[in-house]
Amino acid sequence: MNSKFSVIYGDGIGPEVITSALEVYEALNEKFNVGLEYIVVDAGLSAYKKYGTNLPEQSINAISETCCLLKGPTTTLEEPGSELGVPVKIRKRFDLFANIRPVKSLPGVKSLYSDLDILIVRENTEGMYSGAEYMINKDVSIGVRVATRAGAERVFRVAFREAEKRRRQVTLGHKANVLKATDMLYKQVFYEVSREFELVKASEMHIDALAMNLILKPQQFDVIVTENLFGDIISDEASALVGGLGLSPSANIGERFAMFEPVHGSAPDIAGKGIANPIAAVLSLKMLLEWAGAQKAASSLESAVRSTLSEGRALTPDLGGSATTKDLTKEIIKNI
Ligand code: NAD
Ligand code: IPM
Ligand code: MN
Repeated sequence: MNSKFSVIYGDGIGPEVITSALEVYEALNEKFNVGLEYIVVDAGLSAYKKYGTNLPEQSINAISETCCLLKGPTTTLEEPGSELGVPVKIRKRFDLFANIRPVKSLPGVKSLYSDLDILIVRENTEGMYSGAEYMINKDVSIGVRVATRAGAERVFRVAFREAEKRRRQVTLGHKANVLKATDMLYKQVFYEVSREFELVKASEMHIDALAMNLILKPQQFDVIVTENLFGDIISDEASALVGGLGLSPSANIGERFAMFEPVHGSAPDIAGKGIANPIAAVLSLKMLLEWAGAQKAASSLESAVRSTLSEGRALTPDLGGSATTKDLTKEIIKNI
């Protein structure tokens, strides 16, 4: 494997939480001799101001020469005619078709549930994220929802393989009662793929009912697999069950490359205040280390995060404390 990873600091709280993750990485590297170097790549608003695009070609080329990417959240411009966001572009460009978003209770965190371990597997390249959106005239617009057999097969296989390592249950979240071509195809392919995994129980739930059940009876879920937009929405919802976005990491996985980023965005409401929770970014680093084969460092990092939260000496405001990003980072490093 390539011995370099790339880093995008991102916008808003991105530089704050990625700086923490990199400080944690330095501590792990010192202790476990992980041996991965990293390069910083320009993307997001800073790149847009310099180059007129949020993801210049030279950044894509630099990322291509690394094993994987640690990405901070980037702000997406929201004006008519503006380009797609950085994560969507990278997922498409590197064909990172499975977005893996763990929803796991952590000790010492005041939250709705303290006993959850759910894995959301979100299709990451199709659905409403095709970029095919058009104004027909000034009052009418359409968007194309893409669903392909190949796209469905590969992400369902990831979900079933993950379930084999866990409690062997996969639930498909869909809306085939209304989306009679796109989600019907996904549903058909889901049951076809399920036959390759005899030991895993396959079930389905309409995504609206699933959204409710996630709040009422989340313990019933092991792996949830769903299309792109549904997966986006339920992953923020599910993070709220275990303490919120400040704690939720993700992995965007393809055949040859992977990108690791917090589920959260650039949080303009708290940017620059030094109070963002760095744990989502730090746990994204943990997922990167696992993917890169640095298992010891990854396990040590997870234990350090758990101890830090249990001790509760430095909790950021989203966790009910008054610590800064830096205080919490220092505690994690102490616990490594
Ligand atoms: P957001 O996730 O940035 O914020 C939602 C709420 O969660 C805010 O109140 C925020 O303060 C809080 N929050 C988020 N992360 C936190 C953390 N680490 N610690 C403490 N509190 C935290 O969502 P939004 O406001 O809808 O989006 C803001 C911008 O981020 C938009 O431009 C959006 O497109 C972008 N975004 C980017 C990514 C990405 O790059 N992967 C993901 C989501 C949103
Ligand atoms: C996420 C984000 C992105 C998405 C946005 C910023 C494009 O919300 O990673 O969940 O919708 O996929
Ligand atoms: Mn999202």
